[in-house]
Order: sequence, then structure tokens, then C-alpha cells
Amino acid sequence: MSARGSGVELVVSAQTLTSATESWLQKALLDSRAKGEVDEVRSLVDPSGRLLIAVALPKKVDLESLRRAAGVAARSLVGHKQATFAISCADASELNAIAEGALLGSYQFNQFKGDSSSEGSLVKIAINPGRSIKNATQILARAQIVVDQVKMVRDLINMPPSFLTPEKFVALVKKALPSNVQATVKTHTQLKSEGYGGITAVGQGSANPPRLLHLTYRPTRSRKKYAFVGKGITFDTGGLALKPAQGMEAMKSDMSGAAAVVGAIIAIAQLKLPVAIDAWAPLAENMVSESATRPSDVITIYGGKTVEVLNPDAEGRLILADALVRAVEVRHDLDGIIDVATLTGAQIIALGKRTAAVMGNDDRFRDRFLDAARSAGESFWPMPLPAELRPSLDSPTADLANIGERMGGMLVAGLFLKEFLPEGLPWLHLDIAGPSYNEDQPHGYTPVGGVGFALRSLVHFAEVTSAR
Ligand code: BES
Ligand code: ZN
Ligand code: ZN
Repeated sequence: MSARGSGVELVVSAQTLTSATESWLQKALLDSRAKGEVDEVRSLVDPSGRLLIAVALPKKVDLESLRRAAGVAARSLVGHKQATFAISCADASELNAIAEGALLGSYQFNQFKGDSSSEGSLVKIAINPGRSIKNATQILARAQIVVDQVKMVRDLINMPPSFLTPEKFVALVKKALPSNVQATVKTHTQLKSEGYGGITAVGQGSANPPRLLHLTYRPTRSRKKYAFVGKGITFDTGGLALKPAQGMEAMKSDMSGAAAVVGAIIAIAQLKLPVAIDAWAPLAENMVSESATRPSDVITIYGGKTVEVLNPDAEGRLILADALVRAVEVRHDLDGIIDVATLTGAQIIALGKRTAAVMGNDDRFRDRFLDAARSAGESFWPMPLPAELRPSLDSPTADLANIGERMGGMLVAGLFLKEFLPEGLPWLHLDIAGPSYNEDQPHGYTPVGGVGFALRSLVHFAEVTSAR
């Protein structure tokens, strides 16, 4: 894993196809019965022996279709060292999309494979935008910074959970930090003595103790102050509400939110955006053991609210509650707070595997986020927090129970988190359970395994809300 410089060289190039090659290519594509369907790709060898990759684009080309097409091409170039992407760009944002797609598509995770089985990925990507684009070099540098962090997030998600314990997560992140991001960490002992009842309750069943990681980026001038809070369950067995064996392996991805907020703050700091950021990663492993939290145990979240843990598999909201309360305590002049979590299976039932949900308490703040996410090429959809579901979280014994009405489970989880936020502070809750981890086929620039979802939206949101 490397934070700065994934090793891919990215340059602007003028290399192009001769008209003779172009007409040869047109004929070859027709001969190959290319239909021009999205994600359709053809690998052809031209008469001079060069490998040509042709990828279909939809009739109406938008930024995301360019990003995906470049990703498809990059994925089909596994085993090759360098390539030129000759796609004509109308403007800077198209160049950025192609650069992002090409870099994202070239991702591979070989850390836990023997040398012989790793085919190697592109080390040099040249892009011919077909015309002169102002600030092309800066645009490529920005794409490189953002994608390097998406790749780091993917790496963290793909690492096996016995390797990526909460402690290891902290150590790897610390190594990846640029000099303008500061880290502080709370150990298990500190979490216990300082009253972080959510993180300790979830982590107490594991031999790998929990942590709370806090990162700060403070630019000399900042136009906005945000806190990002990410769910960092390094493995979710469900605890004593043990999950079925089938599919449990995907729960190594239950730290995707934590990884996303860490990657986002690093990218924002490397881009030197005028936005002050606090990133919080509550980290724990949700295990089954004699010391695990029992259904009906009552815990005290940081700040004093009590929660009856009726279901230890609804653990994400418990660690997030601690971190949300702390994030607001540390910085009460925030312009907004955003949490990112693989929080509920209900999210996937509601929106499928590729669209994430956004809930919150401020429609304007949410709509600005949705605009940024759309430009960044990530699919989010707004969801409500209906007041009538709130009483289902009442507990006869504690201030609140950790589960409520089953129908609308994603919204109930959002309502639970809302209890821990002060009124008036713009807050967004991103449930990324579906899109964070791809268990199906690769597509576009999305590989199998960790996706690195939400990072590009967070970074772009910081970019657009801090621009003049
Ligand atoms: N980590 C899971 C949610 C999840 C499920 C993420 C599938 C990605 C894919 C979460 O901790 C969980 O288990 N939630 C429970 C909540 C329920 C007990 C109220 C769920 O969704 O079943
Ligand atoms: Zn769970
Ligand atoms: Zn979980």
C-alpha cells in the first residue's frame, strides 16, 4: 500500500492514430460484430502489431460514461505496462474523468498472492485529449491524488481481517499520512476510562482491542469546517447475534466507511483545499466470546445517553454514536458533519448494490452533497427519516434501544444516529452497505472486492463548497 504515488506515471500525450489505422479499426470493429453496448470492449491487433483497445460509449456521453469507458479499457490491459488513451475531451472535467477512470481501472490487489500469480498493472498511462486543455498537468495531478487514496481504501478493505485489526488499521494509516495531517489515537484503556461505551461494548468480545483514530487537517485559511466520521468494524461476525456462515466473509468490508473518511482527509490535505477537516474512525472487531456484549446489556454512549443492546449485530450505530458525540464536542463550530457507514442490510434491499443512501437533517446541505456526488460519478439517493419510526427505538430499561421496527431498517438506523447530534448542526448519514464492496463481476472502473466508495464524493464536496 502506498499513499503518495501509486507508481503509475500519468502524462498528457499527443500520440494519436493515423487515419489509415482509424479506418482499419472501423472495419475491424464491424468485423468483430461490436454492438456498441456499454462496457463492451474489443482487443484488436493492428497490421503493425500494436494492441488496440476499443470501448463503446453511449450515444449521450456524460462524465461518468467516460470514466467507466476508460476504466473498462484499463482493466482489459492487465499484464501490460503502458498505454495511451486517445479519447477526445471537450474540457477539463472530461480529462479528469478519463484520468480517474484509467487509474481506477488499473487497480490490482496482489499483496496476499505469490509473486508468480500477479500479472502486474499499468505503470504508465498517457492521455491524448485531442485538443489543448488548460491546466492539463494540474488536472492529472489532482486525479492522481484522489485515485491514490481510493486505491488505499480498496487495499484496506481487501486486507484479511486477521491482518487488518483495529491496531493495524491505525498503524497503516499513520504511515500513509502526509505531513499536514495529524493523528491522535485512543487505546482500549483510554476508551474504557473516558466513557466510550459504544466502542468498548462492541470491541470487548475480541482479542484485538478497539481504537478511536482522530485525524485533523488545518489549512492556514479555511472557508469551511467539516467532520467526517466512518464506521470501522474490521470484521462483523454479528457478535452473539451471529451472522450465517454464508456471506460472512464479506464482513471484512465493514470498515469501508472508516477507510473512506481517512482517504478523503488525506486527499483533501494533499490538494491543500481551504477546508478544515476532522476525520474520525472508531475501530473495533465485533466478535463472539465469553466477554462479548449480551443482548439486553445496557451501555453508556460517550456523553451519557444509555442504550439497551437488543441486537449486538446492530453494532455500527454504537461505535458511530460515541464518535459523533466526541466529534461535536471537540469542534462545536462545524459547518457540517458527515458519517459514512456500511450500516444496514436494509440499505441494499432498498436501493440495490450500486446506489448508496443519504439521510440527514438539512435538505440544502444534502442537496449540495448530492450535486457533488453526481459530478464525482458516485450514485447516492436521498432517503427520509420519518418521525413515526422513532418510537420503535424506545426501551423500557434505557434511554434508547439499538434496534427498532424492522421495516425501513435503514431509516431506523439513521434515526438512532440522529439522537446523538445537536439540533441545528447540518448532518448527513451515508449508508454505503451495498456499493462499498463488489461481490459480483467487475464493471467500468470497479473491481471485485473493495470499491473505495464515498471518497470521491467527500473530496469533491470539499472542493465545491470551498471554491469561491
Ligand atoms: N455490517 C452490517 C450491515 C451490512 C450488511 C453491511 C450487509 C453490508 C452488507 C451491520 O452491522 C448489520 O449487521 N446490521 C443489521 C442491523 C439489524 C440487526 C437491525 C442488519 O442490517 O441486518
Ligand atoms: Zn452487524
Ligand atoms: Zn456491521
